[in-house]
This record gives sequence, structure tokens and C-alpha cells, in this order.
Amino acid sequence: MRVLQVSAEIFPLLKTGGLADIAGALPHALIAVGQDVRVLLPGFPAIVAGVEDLVPLHDLRAPWGDRTRLLVGRVATAGAPDVTAYVIDAPHLYDRPGNPYEDTHRQPYGDNHRRFALLGWAAAQLAQGLDPTWQPAVVHAHDWHAALAPAYLAFAQRPPGPRVGSVFTVHNLAYQGLFAPWDFADLGLPGPAFQMNGLEYFGQLNFMKGGLVFADRLTTVSPTYAREIQTPEQGQGLDGLLRQRSDVLTGILNAVDDQVWNPGTDALLPQGFSLPEGKRMAGKAACKAALRQQLGLAAWPDVPLFVVVSRLTEQKGLHLVLDGLDALLAQGGQLALLGGGEAWLEEAFRQRAAATPESVSVTIGYNENLAHQLFGAGDVTLVPSLFEPCGLTQMYGLKYGSLPLVRSVGGLADTVVDCTLENMASGEATGFVFGHFDDTDYARAVRRAFALYKRPADWRRVRATAMRRPADWATAAAQYVAVYRQAAPNVAV
Ligand code: ADP
Ligand code: GLC
Repeated sequence: MRVLQVSAEIFPLLKTGGLADIAGALPHALIAVGQDVRVLLPGFPAIVAGVEDLVPLHDLRAPWGDRTRLLVGRVATAGAPDVTAYVIDAPHLYDRPGNPYEDTHRQPYGDNHRRFALLGWAAAQLAQGLDPTWQPAVVHAHDWHAALAPAYLAFAQRPPGPRVGSVFTVHNLAYQGLFAPWDFADLGLPGPAFQMNGLEYFGQLNFMKGGLVFADRLTTVSPTYAREIQTPEQGQGLDGLLRQRSDVLTGILNAVDDQVWNPGTDALLPQGFSLPEGKRMAGKAACKAALRQQLGLAAWPDVPLFVVVSRLTEQKGLHLVLDGLDALLAQGGQLALLGGGEAWLEEAFRQRAAATPESVSVTIGYNENLAHQLFGAGDVTLVPSLFEPCGLTQMYGLKYGSLPLVRSVGGLADTVVDCTLENMASGEATGFVFGHFDDTDYARAVRRAFALYKRPADWRRVRATAMRRPADWATAAAQYVAVYRQAAPNVAV
């Protein structure tokens, strides 16, 4: 089946979070099971620079009148077939400092509604035959940035032939793409699209609603999150709509791209490691020693290293880590954090590192290589999120034998099994799970981690279970194919 995947980010070219990892891995996983997948991306500088053999395909005129172009090229990845990529060439919209969504002061760009409407609009153009050599049967849009694709498709003049299906995946309901109502006039959608059962949301314009209302099928990135977002507590104001559409909503758990995240082959680690390995997992010990030296952490023996690789936002619950840091250090642990985001969190963690540099290391910023080294070196990966649609770092922690310590929410609940005595006895335990989003419950989980660490044989057994946990893309790819079939039932696969 021909599938056009639409996303704002794609690993390895442009990444601010897990969306990029998934947008990068899913096309390969689908191609591996025989699907014909192409991607559509906004022409951010890193994308224009990274897509190979880019050539112009078609001139475009945006609904508000701007002249742009659609280019076509290929994303080349070592060890996998190339993926054809359509790129929207609009430097006046995309060639800017800051990240893809915000300026250097972390303020959203004032014309974000145009920057991302164009992405959805171009997807609908391709669905209607803009490229005479390739027309998708399904448009698969990711997150609010691409969420207008299903809306444009729903209001498009239908060409003859089978209807193009649409699938919308929610990676994070907290980011909806909210804009002033007058921005609707730019979109080129008919008036009826701006209604309560459309893009209107308490008087504002809501891009994510475009995906949720108009897509044929909805998915989100874990089964638990699929249930949670239908409740008022976790529905971010859209739970009613999600309940209405629950019959077309599926939770498909993210997977791990083995080409990128594999401790046995990871060239970013000073030494690889895999199971089965000698009792002491020598490669992992070497990673820990090298990282501690690199970060200036003391090389104390038998001290567990806790790691964090995260955006520093409210979602990630990292104030629990701050509040619990004294106790963690008092029990003899060390912490290495890599992250960036809210200024107060960055500052608070920096101060803690300055106070006890032999026990706490804090690296502010984005660093893909260091992220790999932290999972390789870590004993415990902390992910105490308030909410978590899926979460990838706990899965990387599992795979790299850095046992996840997570709150039981969203995809974290679906991927980590707590070290209770029962779960240890049945050989299922893979990490540490706490329930209440408070200091007390978090502190208990940290104590459980220390207790297990003091029992090396048990620790090794749990770590081996964690490293063996299947997280391959084949299962997820098969589930996406089933959803595409539902979205485009008349198309041969
Ligand atoms: P989210 O998408 O909500 O940020 P995920 O756990 O799904 O959370 O994905 C986060 C991804 O971003 C992972 O690949 C993680 O390794 C990476 N990441 C997060 N912060 C950093 C950072 N400061 N440097 C490098 N990689 C990071
Ligand atoms: C979002 C979510 C995260 C998820 C990622 C990829 O950024 O916050 O939980 O893993 O998307 O689906």
C-alpha cells in the first residue's frame, strides 16, 4: 500500500524529541513488511541539507497566496533502503534560528499556523495527485504539526478513483497547536470546518482537533495512553471528542530502532555489550567507568549511577528528582543528567551539580552521543513523568540495561514491570514503578532500586530480563498496516 507519512521532524535529520525517532523508524519498519512509504517534511534547514538529491517537483501556491515549491529527494540511512522524501521548500517560513517551533527566546513563531498548515495542505495536494508518478492510498499524519492533512482531505474535491484514507497519530495531546480564530482565514478551508465538530475549540483554532475530528482512523503511541486520553484528567480538554471517536482509536506501542539503539553494535559507546555476557557485564562496566571519567564523577565502587535524558518540562516530573536528590546521594548514588528546557529546572540542576560535582553531573543542551553513553553507562534511568504518551528513554534504558524507574502512567506503565517479589519470582521484573505523583512514592521506588542493587545476583537477573524485553518494530508495523487497511478499505495491500 502507498503510504505518505507526514511529520515535522525525522531522525537522523532533525530531532527535538521522540517524535523524530518514530518518524525515522516507522517508514523502514513498514517498507520491511512490503509497504510503499514516502515521507513529507517541512523544509527546515537541517532537512534541506540532509535529504539527498533534492530536485524541484512542483510549484505550490499556499492557500494564503505565498509561492513555494515541493522538492523530492531521498533520506539515506546506513543499513536500510532509502526513503523517498517530499520537502516543502519555503525558506521564508522554515529557515529560522531556534528550534522548529520556537524562536531563540523559546516563544512560538507568530506565523506557526501558516508554517504547519502548509505541511497538512501539501499532504492533501499529494493525496490528490500532485505527483503523477506516486499517489498515496493513505496519508498518515503525526501530531498537531501535520494534523490539518486529514481536514484538508475531508474538504477536498474528490478526484475519481478510490478515496484516500487518513490516519492521525497523537504523540502528545498536551501540544495541540492553538491559534487565534482569525488565523483560520489563512487556511483556505471552508467555513464549516471552523465549528465545534471541527477546528473550533472554545473560540480558538485548534490544529490537533483537525486530526482528531477528520481522520478516518486515530492512533496513539501506547494502549494505556489511548485509554487515559479519554478521561477528563488526561484528556487535555479533548477527552469528550476522543470518547466519541473511541471506535476508531487504537493504541500502538512505539518500538526501538535496532539500527540506532543497540548496545551490542552502538558505535557511540566506548565498548559494546550484549547478552549473554559474563557475570559482570564487562562492556557495560567499561561504559560506566569511561562516562564517570568524562563527566568528572567519582569512580567509587559499588555505587549505582542514575541517569536522566529528557526535555526539562513539567511533563517529565523532574522536580521529583530534584526533591529526592539528597536522599539519593545519602544512599550513596550518583546522578548524571542530560536535558534542556525550562530555565528554572536547568538552573536548579546546574546548582546541584556545582555543589557536589563528584556525585552529580548536569549537561544542559541536546547531545545525541552523550544520550547513548548515558544509557550505556547507567544503572537506573529515571523517568518519573506526570504523563507520558509512550516514552522512549525507558525503552532505551531497558535495552541498555539501565533499569527504568518510572511512574505508572501512559506508555511507561505498558513497558516496565516493577521489582515486586512476585514479579521477581516470575522472572518478569524489569525496573521500578511508582504510582502517586509525589515525593513519597518516588522516594520509595528509589529505595527499591538501592535495595535491589545491594543484591547483585538479583540485579543481574532483572537487568537480563530488561535487556531481553522485545521492542522490535515488526509488531508495531503490523498493527499500523491493519489500521491503514481500515482507513483505506478499498485499496489492495
Ligand atoms: P519526548 O518525545 O516526550 O521528549 P521520549 O522519551 O519519547 O520523550 O523521547 C525523547 C527522545 O529525545 C529520546 O530519543 C531521547 O534520547 C532524546 N532526548 C531527550 N533529551 C535529549 C537531550 N538533551 N539530548 C539528546 N537526546 C535527548
Ligand atoms: C511524544 C511523547 C512521548 C512519545 C513520543 C514518541 O513526544 O511525549 O511519550 O514517546 O512522542 O511517540
